[in-house]
Amino acid sequence: MKALVKEKAEPGLWLTEVPEPAVGPGEVLIRVLRTGICGTDLHIRNFDAWAQQTLRTPLIVGHEFCGEVVEVAPGVEDIAAGDLVSGEGHLVCGKCRNCMAGRRHLCRNTVGLGVNRDGAFAEYVTLPASNVWVHRVPVDPDVAAIFDPFGNAVHTALAFPMVGEDVLITGAGPIGLMAAAVATHVGARNVVITDVSPERLELARKLGVSLALNVAERSVADSLHELGMHEGFDVGLEMSGHPQALRDMIANMTHGGKIAMLGLPAEEFAVDFATIVTSMITLKGIYGREMYETWYAMSVLLEKGLDLSPVITDRFSYRDFDAAFDTAASGKTGKIILDWTA
Ligand SMILES: NC(=O)c1ccc[n+]([C@@H]2O[C@H](COP(=O)([O-])OP(=O)(O)OC[C@H]3O[C@@H](n4cnc5c(N)ncnc54)[C@H](O)[C@@H]3O)[C@@H](O)[C@H]2O)c1
Ligand SMILES: [Zn+2]
Ligand SMILES: [Zn+2]
Repeated sequence: MKALVKEKAEPGLWLTEVPEPAVGPGEVLIRVLRTGICGTDLHIRNFDAWAQQTLRTPLIVGHEFCGEVVEVAPGVEDIAAGDLVSGEGHLVCGKCRNCMAGRRHLCRNTVGLGVNRDGAFAEYVTLPASNVWVHRVPVDPDVAAIFDPFGNAVHTALAFPMVGEDVLITGAGPIGLMAAAVATHVGARNVVITDVSPERLELARKLGVSLALNVAERSVADSLHELGMHEGFDVGLEMSGHPQALRDMIANMTHGGKIAMLGLPAEEFAVDFATIVTSMITLKGIYGREMYETWYAMSVLLEKGLDLSPVITDRFSYRDFDAAFDTAASGKTGKIILDWTA
């Protein structure tokens, strides 16, 4: 089969012929239909310091995907050939304290699909049955392909109650955009999203946010005045990984405000902890998706009319992966989809 492989410990990815995977005990074999390109895949292609430290080559990359079940191992129930499925890319140990207590997203031995083991940018992939989410309600395959980052957005957005609240989202990348769509859909009062990319802020406007603010031109405090807010934001979703975004957020929260932080900073940085203390701000880190509460929430949000279509801006055949990766790396687009059937 064809697969996108990190063959050598150097920048680049290679589209090569590799053996088809066989179904192991408890596993499901899936024919990949569509995949989404994640920032992680860009780091792997660039072979930056994180990738050099983390990866063992050769490795099939990719973790955002949907596909059709081809075969299930004996004993696997409730998943059948022909099912449209997405994959949970965090493989947990099932043995640690958190796994045993049912808090699988808090497993300390998580193995990452397409990072620590062969991934989904291929014509076929296998996964443990417990990592397979079957779409019981019809869903667009492009949207099914991005359930992983959509889940990051939903996990973060639903970390704190949002109904009627004023919400600040820093970073209008694909995940920030999806979080904005969720916040609007679930009934936040004001949804303000910030970025420095005019293209991405324009995408946010299509999603119906209250205000899409370019922080290279105007301050977050300006947005408070413009929207007639007097006491600061109730909920903050940090989705940029940039120090200044978190600093802006902390400075503009209401007393008792709640911040959920998904963005992964590249380095340590300083923030105003005195304000966190005296404003009694809660700061919660978010990693991955809750298994499978977040997945349930994603499916029912879509069923109830949440529209993610504006977030998906470009589609490529897997053969044109280099152009697709360049587009994703431009920082100007929404989500980029690779089609593995074209
Ligand atoms: N915790 C997790 O499980 C998890 C999973 C996936 C991604 N992430 C992280 O979440 C973040 C969002 O992911 P993404 O794929 O949307 O990333 P992305 O890099 O595409 O988007 C980040 C956006 O932040 C913008 N930005 C830069 N400086 C800013 C500032 N000062 N204020 C506001 N915005 C600013 C950038 O222009 C960019 O559009 C990234 O940091 C990523 O590493 C975390
Ligand atoms: Zn990802
Ligand atoms: Zn575990």
